[in-house]
Amino acid sequence: MEHQQHFDPRDFRQALGMFATGVTIVTTRGADGAPVGVTANSFNSVSIDPPLVLWSLAKNARSLDAFSGSDHWNVHILAHEQEALSNLFARAGEDKFGQQQLEQGVSDAPLLPGCSARFQCKTMFQYDGGDHTIFVGQVLSYDRTQRPPLLYAMGQYALASRKAQAVATEAQADTSASLYSENLLGYLLGRAHYQFLAGIRPLLNERSLTDADFFVLSLLSVQEPLPAAEIARHIAYTGIDVGSVLLQQLCDRALLRKTDAPAYALTDAGRDAILHVVAAAKAEEADVLERMGESEAALLRNLLKQFVRATDPGLPTLWTAAAAQ
Ligand SMILES: Cc1cc2nc3c(=O)[nH]c(=O)nc-3n(C[C@H](O)[C@H](O)[C@H](O)COP(=O)(O)O)c2cc1C
Repeated sequence: MEHQQHFDPRDFRQALGMFATGVTIVTTRGADGAPVGVTANSFNSVSIDPPLVLWSLAKNARSLDAFSGSDHWNVHILAHEQEALSNLFARAGEDKFGQQQLEQGVSDAPLLPGCSARFQCKTMFQYDGGDHTIFVGQVLSYDRTQRPPLLYAMGQYALASRKAQAVATEAQADTSASLYSENLLGYLLGRAHYQFLAGIRPLLNERSLTDADFFVLSLLSVQEPLPAAEIARHIAYTGIDVGSVLLQQLCDRALLRKTDAPAYALTDAGRDAILHVVAAAKAEEADVLERMGESEAALLRNLLKQFVRATDPGLPTLWTAAAAQ
């Protein structure tokens, strides 16, 4: 029966991309002993007993000869922070191993550190798979960490998250009757913010620091000295209008000092105060993240960054300017 489909390759690829996968780097050594590696999301498990895995490589890949002629290869399941490594190994013909630290495995195939899991394999079969070659390997050794994996779906990198289990509360039971519901983003953001701040509130009170004081000191701990107008511009998004009175009060309390510019900078006492508050905030964060799990924490950071970008009223850059100094 002749039944040739003429799919639009782009559309077919997009349809296949609806299948979410992890991202791996598969490595081996060429006939000359040089390390070889490619990014591949075609990896899959095949069998538990015997332990078998597979992946497929495009026949036009530069690394095809190396993999076809090799007895051993290693599959690295990338962790969520290894996106740059994935991009590096997805480029044809680059010197991909220049900066990489390698570990010694059961074979001489390169073993990369920092992954979610690794499978060291011996080639069992190679099959023709259209424009790809399918490699099936027996797993000789594997290891894994708690690092959350990097995912790939719909042509983009993604993060894994458990679907949140709905917490059945009385309020949630009858949300339709109320305009104000548990799913309102404003409510969730506000509540999360205040619940988090509650952890450092006692320290702020102990040091007689208001929210406005805290914002000024933390801003100057990233960038200083700054003129009054610049400080006000950075903090305006909080709704707090930082005027000269507040800055003078912080000077009177010896937490800030005026520079010649004229601008404001932290004194030693001001730096000590903000270091203690930030240390408390970091401890609070570590505690919350331990309860949430690293995977959800990475996802939350990612979503909050997207939210901050989407709602940015045009604030001056803070971190990049500081990093460039
Ligand atoms: C997320 C991602 C997944 C990929 N998966 C595969 C794959 O499974 N098989 C494949 O042949 N190429 C895959 N590629 C493309 C190769 O990594 C890319 O063609 C690379 O240049 C091959 O290296 P080489 O030319 O040095 O052999 C993928 C690329 C990305 C970014």
